[in-house]
Amino acid sequence: MQTTPSPPLFSREFGADPYPAYAWLRENAPVYKAELPSGVAAWLVTRYADARAALADPRLSKNPDRHSAQAHHSGRVGIPGERGANVMTHLLNIDPPDHTRLRRLVAKAFTPRRVAAFEPRVRELTGSLIASFAGRGEADLIHEFAFPLPIYAICDMLGVPREDQDDFRDWAGMMLHPSGKRGGVGRSVKRMRAYLGDLIHRKRADLGDDLISDLIRASDHGEHLTEDEAAAMSFILLFAGFETTVNLIGNGLYTLLRHPAELADLRRSLAAGEEALLESAVEELLRYDGPVELATWRFAREPLVLGGQRVERGDPVLVVLAGADRDPRRFERPDVLDLARRDNQHLGYGHGIHYCLGAPLARLEGRAAIGMLLSELPDIRLAVDSDDLRWRGGLIMRGLRSLPVEFTSS
Ligand code: HEM
Repeated sequence: MQTTPSPPLFSREFGADPYPAYAWLRENAPVYKAELPSGVAAWLVTRYADARAALADPRLSKNPDRHSAQAHHSGRVGIPGERGANVMTHLLNIDPPDHTRLRRLVAKAFTPRRVAAFEPRVRELTGSLIASFAGRGEADLIHEFAFPLPIYAICDMLGVPREDQDDFRDWAGMMLHPSGKRGGVGRSVKRMRAYLGDLIHRKRADLGDDLISDLIRASDHGEHLTEDEAAAMSFILLFAGFETTVNLIGNGLYTLLRHPAELADLRRSLAAGEEALLESAVEELLRYDGPVELATWRFAREPLVLGGQRVERGDPVLVVLAGADRDPRRFERPDVLDLARRDNQHLGYGHGIHYCLGAPLARLEGRAAIGMLLSELPDIRLAVDSDDLRWRGGLIMRGLRSLPVEFTSS
């Protein structure tokens, strides 16, 4: 443990704006052992170079069972968005060679080509969500826009029939806004898993043109995914691609609404039919206030030195993407929102073998949501003071509970 005084981590002010505390850590204790709200102690890595190195370091394992009894017992060994759900084997908590095999198989199904072909559907979904509130002059952009878009998009892509997609919306809603009923989240996860298991079983007999069918078809050196593996894979795609994208859209729009000059530039470029600024803007919004504040857990397989600090075997390590992406050693004027920023190699999608598999889909959804909303509601503005907005608590993810806006109804 360091002797430096602990910065005010995990307080309510920290939840609204963690960046000053991360800046403090970056300068004073770049690899810092903090006590998390759950009581678990974990190393926080806040400098860009250390963060990037840690994300790619094979001495840091994703598998909690083998390396840390402590974090395992905390029940918070999560994929982005996971809240105390049953832990199961999926890409984010396994190491090579199992990870290599599963990732290769899923990459054969979840291809950039499939994502690109999906663009018209994402735009159609985005348009119909905007139309559902455009006549009202006000909306909550989290509940009515950022939340439903990714869940319908990934359900469609997986091949979940439209008539069942509202069930997913409800189950996903439970994960994002637990109702306080005990076991609600666990029950939703169970229902989703059961539904996906059943769907995979049915699709096996009648393969179609969807991601689940491609997951069943995918083979590598003659090897296929088992039904259980395909169900776990579909589930992780839903889980990892859901709250993250909600927050990309929510945090992104919130940031834009607070930066009128940058917003006006983006509107002008959209009105001129240009795509380039929108593309770089989505990357910059991810860097500036990304959805994943801390990368998912890692555990030291062996003692190692990280950023000059000795980390013991079994110690949990959390890479602070939100800190690394504001590091002045890597980014010029890191606290300035520069929608046209070049050389923007942010870590918002991670780095190394666990680099986000869904990044092309997230970018597509981000561009559609932000571009279409700003084009169709040209005078959209925040309806409340920033201080009145609430951020969802949670260690890994950063996102707003609600985002009330007003605009001239159309
Ligand atoms: C992994 C971020 C959207 C699927 C990751 C990781 C990050 C991330 C940081 C690495 C975590 C780590 O190394 O600990 C994001 C962000 C998103 C987003 C910021 C939205 C803006 C999506 C979408 C999908 C997806 C839409 C799929 C539909 C995955 C999967 C992994 C992953 C499967 C695990 C990859 C592996 O372990 O090999 N994501 N993600 N993500 N993401 Fe995303």
